[in-house]
Amino acid sequence: MDKLQGIDSHIVIIGCGMSGIGAALKLTKEGFKNIKIIEATGRSGGRIKTTTFGNVIVEIGANWIHGPSKANPVFQLACEHGLLDSQAMSEENQALDVEGHPSFQSFYSSSGNKLTPELTKSVSQLFLTLLGKSKEFILTEKEPYPSVGEFLKKEIAKHAVEWKDDAETKKLKLALLTMMLKLECCFSGTHSMDLVGLGAFGGYKTLPGLDCTFPGGYEGLIDAMMKGLPESIVSYNNPVKCVHWNWSFRGANSPEQTFPVMVECENGETVPANHVIVTVPLGYLKEHYETLINPSLPLSKVHSIQRMGFGTNNKIFLEFEEPFWEPDCEVINLIWEDETPLADVKPDVNQFWMKKIFGFTVLHPPERYGHVLCGWIAGHESEYMETLSDTEVKNSMTEVIRKFTGNPSITPKRILQSKWHSDPYTKGSYSYVAVGCSGSDIENIVQPLPLQETDTKPLQVLFAGEATHQSFYSTTHGALLSGWREADRLITHYTQSPLISQNFSSKL
Ligand SMILES: Cc1cc2nc3c(=O)[nH]c(=O)nc-3n(C[C@H](O)[C@H](O)[C@H](O)COP(=O)(O)OP(=O)(O)OC[C@H]3O[C@@H](n4cnc5c(N)ncnc54)[C@H](O)[C@@H]3O)c2cc1C
Ligand SMILES: *[C@@H]1O[C@H](CO)[C@@H](O)[C@H](O)[C@H]1NC(C)=O
Repeated sequence: MDKLQGIDSHIVIIGCGMSGIGAALKLTKEGFKNIKIIEATGRSGGRIKTTTFGNVIVEIGANWIHGPSKANPVFQLACEHGLLDSQAMSEENQALDVEGHPSFQSFYSSSGNKLTPELTKSVSQLFLTLLGKSKEFILTEKEPYPSVGEFLKKEIAKHAVEWKDDAETKKLKLALLTMMLKLECCFSGTHSMDLVGLGAFGGYKTLPGLDCTFPGGYEGLIDAMMKGLPESIVSYNNPVKCVHWNWSFRGANSPEQTFPVMVECENGETVPANHVIVTVPLGYLKEHYETLINPSLPLSKVHSIQRMGFGTNNKIFLEFEEPFWEPDCEVINLIWEDETPLADVKPDVNQFWMKKIFGFTVLHPPERYGHVLCGWIAGHESEYMETLSDTEVKNSMTEVIRKFTGNPSITPKRILQSKWHSDPYTKGSYSYVAVGCSGSDIENIVQPLPLQETDTKPLQVLFAGEATHQSFYSTTHGALLSGWREADRLITHYTQSPLISQNFSSKL
């Protein structure tokens, strides 16, 4: 009986990204019939976004499957749909555990020299060791400093006094460590590692497997998943204005039926529902939670939404006639020799935004991509870059590359920059656990409305999306698992007897 009622219930999913599609697929497979996805933009995929750049395919959003191995559901799906190459699917590839750090790197300095492997190896080793240490505080539940940045800088200072090198080498080592901090900012999608909470940092979990990409584009996975859903399920170009809950709305086609929730769209359309799964990005939620949910969210949720971190990481694609890097080079790192993590200087964002770029990844293989680099830039500098024209960015990039290579004639042919912070429905790139936050903030954001489990109309508004996953936030697999989690919550609710379902949810 409960099952029947379940599959007839009206479910609205807000957002057609990985989490929303994942939830819709699971509910559809379970037999739920009245599912609707409402998407603000004209496309599915959200932060999975593939486009063309000249003759090649590039990723504006997600690029890798992080940790492609058995436990990663995005990897599993990509395999099932035949979207990966054989190397990515091999057992050896799945067994590798390098925590995402690539191997063949070139280190260029701002004086036009290359750093020696002896120097870069020992400094990389030191940085990785310190980074490993900063992930251990989740176990001790003690924080010697509030942020990862402060901890790393204190540790670097301790090591630096022990260095026996000459002054020039010491300076280079510190400059290298500054670059590594910028790289970490890109990983965490934050302006500064000083904003990332130390105690919670180790809560992010990596999976084994050497990160792999989709030869035909990440969006191929979205297309394949969308084929499993009825075509009419998505309403595109339809931004949701407000989710009204805790009420009794009449259905337009069935006035005898009432619904506790009603979704109001910007265009005036209203959609009554029994359950709504909100999958909008945390960046959007931070800006709109006051008007998006009515009655407004309980303070416990509001505070966690405010506290959690959501920053910007952007890409700059550059195409060249000829490569200026070695054939096996995977990453080109840029070392500004005058920089040190130990000085407390406030950067001039507008004038020196390009100094925040840690380097470029090389798109491999050249037979597929030609000679294309992808620059990475996080934080306020990244957000400032979004206000500049392609020509302005291209000119700055040309200047930087000429300076670092000492070659005054290198000129990129073509440029493309991502602009995630200006995207009105994303407002940044992905989430991180900020200073003062813990896993319980993620738990708070996940809590469905109404909070009281005794309410006669439970599970009116549910929350999914990348930022709601305890250990895989900021990833596509985190997003997918969060969508599945909320679909399961509804499935369990309808398949278990009311008594059991109450006991079950009070344990969550
Ligand atoms: C530059 C960049 C690089 C990344 N690299 C990787 C990577 O290499 N590997 C990896 O695993 N992850 C990566 N990620 C993260 C990954 O892309 C995301 O974690 C994941 O795609 C998020 O899925 P989601 O469903 O939670 O959110 P989204 O994909 O953002 O979907 C949410 C949807 O909600 C819609 N929406 C918002 N507001 C409204 C509204 N009011 N009404 C209706 N719809 C609305 C949005 O338009 C969007 O389509 C990257 C992200 C970025 C930005
Ligand atoms: C929900 O509605 C009930 C009954 O009108 C009211 O007492 C309660 O305060 C409402 N809850 C919220 C969160 O507004």
